[in-house]
Formats: sequence, C-alpha cells, structure tokens
Amino acid sequence: NHPTRCDLMLFGALGDLAQRKLFPALYQLERANLLAPGSRILAVARPAQEPDAVRRQLQESLRRHVGPAEFDAAVADAFLARVAYQSLDFRDAEGYASLREWRGDESHPLIVYMATPPSMYGVIGRHLKQAGCCDPHTRVVVEKPIGHDLASSRAINDALGEVFDESQLFRIDHYLGKETVQNLIALRFANNLFASQWNQDHISHVEITVAESVGIEGRWGYFDQAGQIRDMVQNHLLQLLCLIAMDPPADLSADSLRDEKVKVLKALKPITPDRMESHVVRGQYTAGTIQGRPVPGYLEEEGANRGSGTETFVALKVEIDNWRWSGVPFYIRTGKRLPEKLSQIIIHFKPAPHYIFDPDQRHLANNKLVIRLQPDEGMSLKILVKEQGLDKGMRLRPRPLELTFSETFEAERIPDAYERLLWEVMKGNQYLFVRRDEVEYAWRWIDQVIRHWRDAGEPPKRYPAGSWGPVASIALITRDGRSWYEDA
Ligand code: BG6
Repeated sequence: NHPTRCDLMLFGALGDLAQRKLFPALYQLERANLLAPGSRILAVARPAQEPDAVRRQLQESLRRHVGPAEFDAAVADAFLARVAYQSLDFRDAEGYASLREWRGDESHPLIVYMATPPSMYGVIGRHLKQAGCCDPHTRVVVEKPIGHDLASSRAINDALGEVFDESQLFRIDHYLGKETVQNLIALRFANNLFASQWNQDHISHVEITVAESVGIEGRWGYFDQAGQIRDMVQNHLLQLLCLIAMDPPADLSADSLRDEKVKVLKALKPITPDRMESHVVRGQYTAGTIQGRPVPGYLEEEGANRGSGTETFVALKVEIDNWRWSGVPFYIRTGKRLPEKLSQIIIHFKPAPHYIFDPDQRHLANNKLVIRLQPDEGMSLKILVKEQGLDKGMRLRPRPLELTFSETFEAERIPDAYERLLWEVMKGNQYLFVRRDEVEYAWRWIDQVIRHWRDAGEPPKRYPAGSWGPVASIALITRDGRSWYEDA
C-alpha cells in the first residue's frame, strides 16, 4: 500500500456526489496516509468562486459528511492544502488553458474524475485533449448512468473512446467497491469447499435482494426518467449476479475477471413477452409508513408528475443459459421505500439425495449461505444439527455458522466504496471497474425487458411504502414452490 503521486482533476466538484462521497473519500485516504506527498486536487465547477471560499465550504461539508468521530481538523487542513479551485464552463474550449497551466509539466499520472452528466464526458475529454492536458497515462473515471439504453450507452462510450483508450477508462459501479462485494471473490475462489458446490448439481436457486428504505430524496427528475431497473438492476444487481455466477478467473487481473463476467451477461436468457408475467414484476410505492414514520407515495413526492408510470421496485426471475447454471433461477428484487435498508444474497443448496430423518422436518433439509452486504456485513451458513437432550431423538434444528465482519475485524473500520475505488484508480488497477462490453451486454438484456413493458403498456403494480413490494413479487417466487428468505 504505497501511495503514488498523482494529480486529480475533479469535474462537478460542487455537486452532490462530490460533496457527499468523493471529498469525504479523499479525506479518508489522507487520514490513512494514502495520498502521496505532492499529490494535488483541482476542483472544477461552473460557479465563479474564490478558492478560499471553496475550501471553507469543503471544510464544512467534510465535517458534516465524515461525521464527528472521524473528522480531524488537522487532517482536513492538510487535505484542503492540496485543493485548488477552477471555475469553468465545461463547453468552453478556451477555458481549458487554465487547467493546462495548473497541471504544468508534471510527469506523474493525471486522474480526471467526471462527476458530471454523461452528456459532458465526450466534451470534457475532447477539450482536455485539445488543451494538451492528457497523455496515454491519463486515467479517466466516469459515473453511471452510462446511457439509458444500449444505443445511448454506445454513443457515450464512442465519445469517450475517441479520446481515450479502454485501458484508461474507469467506469464506476460503486457496488464493486463495497468490502463485502469484494469478499464474494475471496469466498468463492479462496475456499475450495464452496468451489466444488457452486453449480446446478448442488444449488437449487439464488436470491439477491437490494432493499432501500429511502425514497427519491429530491432526485425525482432524474429518477423518473430512469426507474429502478435502469438505476439499480442494469448495474448493481447484474454486477452482483455476475460475481456469484461467473466461472473462476485465471488470475485477479482486470481483464480475467471482466472476461468471466461478460460470459455470464452473454448467457442471460432473454425474457420473451410470453414469460414476462411469470418472470418480471414492476412496482411503484404509494403512501405508507417506514419505521413508524408516515411517508408520501412516489406520485406525491416533491416535483412529481402525477401521471408517472415509472417503477420504484422490480423483481425478476433470471435464468442463465450455461452448463453451470442450467435450471437454477436467480430471483432478484430491489426497491425504494421497502421496510429497511438491506442487501443480501442467499445461496440455497439442494437437499441431500437421500433423507433419513423425521419426514415432518424434510422442508428444513437444505443448507443456505446468507451473504449480508449491508448493513451488518457478514456471512452465515445455515446448517442442520441435532437438537440436544435425551427426549429429542434425532430432531433437527437449523443453526448458523456465523461470521460478522465487525466482530472478526474489530479494530478496522469498513471503508466506504468510494475510498476503495479512488485508491484503485490511483494504483491504476481496473479490476473493480466496468469494461465497455459489460455495460453494453447488460443494456442489451435490460432493453428487451423495458421494450416488452412499453409494448404491454401496463402501469406498475402499487405497493404501500414500508411493505416488501407488490404481492405479485411474492407470487413470482411462490409459484415455483419457494419463498423470499426471512431470517428466522
Ligand atoms: C445509486 C442509485 O447508484 O445507488 C441510488 O442511483 C441508490 O438510487 C444507491 O439509492 C444505493 O447505493 P447504496 O450504496 O446506498 O446501497
């Protein structure tokens, strides 16, 4: 973990993402001594402001977002001393001369972080290049959404590709930076115990739930154009699915991992119109109660268009047409205004081939591996043991083998996803970033679902805020004789 010197230009530096996530993450790298001496940050945004005023504003925002336990004024001062500010109209080619001037003749790598609307990626890239700011070692970080369908994602990727080579591009999916998500790689490929079980011989089905209790949080305009399938499934949930389903990579290099993920995306079985009803549920929340607090419905949120048919919940039965996963459905669901924030993956193993215990307990007889991504990161392997006591005979009871990361790694704080991702960019390692073909295969699959929705013209099914989604999402899994996992 040796910090390497680099310069960072952060476009959109006064925006919400930069203030809430990026500056706090950079501050944490400073606190962990991972920013090399001489590394500098140029905050770039449109408003004309004095650098001192921007630094004061940043200090306040850091204090707020980092929290009192981790905010250290001396660290913040050292960090802010690296930060300069440049006001710029991103479309004004001439203005980039001042960025060139800031960069000077430095030879250490330049990282360009575009926390801007994707329509600006190509524009910023071209102007930076014309102004002589980039070289083949420049690294460019871009945020989702990379388009709203396959065609628009290609246009964005083409615009970036005109200026930068794929090896320079770091497309963020912040789920890949989460500590437990990376642990999926360790779990699967460092433990031979699981490797031999990880296929359709031994696994009956897989569940992935990414539930949020928040609503739209003032982002109605953006969200209503996207909906939950574009905002969460196309990226975060499909990435999780790929990490669970992919074949073992030859090594941990970026391309080995990404090659395997792409193979999964290519093998996703299309959902044809006749299978939409049994495989897909879209929902939209109405007013309800979350943790005792009344909350408005989606159509009553600030700035809402009352006629919107955008979904805030999706459940899907996904099938993977390959040797390893044939006949093993992946039930995935994600939604806003569900009862709690909870992301977890459950691997349901098949029962033993021959059962010799109490027939009434037969339904217990499949092991489950529960991987908790957030909160309370950890894993729990549900196994069956004999109940204790002379009078219990061979009665079985499911019990967990439990691993809670906060207890196992007591002294260590769990870094935020953006800390990990920024640190990997500084090291020039692309393995936690999404390659162009991954984005495009994911869109190809999502597009067909959205097309069928559009053709059917049905409104989303309603669910009250604070519930687990429309009743139809329960039916999606019970139809197959299964149910969504609930921790007993
Ligand atoms: C973002 C989505 O990518 O992920 C948001 O745009 C969502 O709508 C967020 O709330 C969830 O991320 P996390 O890390 O809080 O699970």
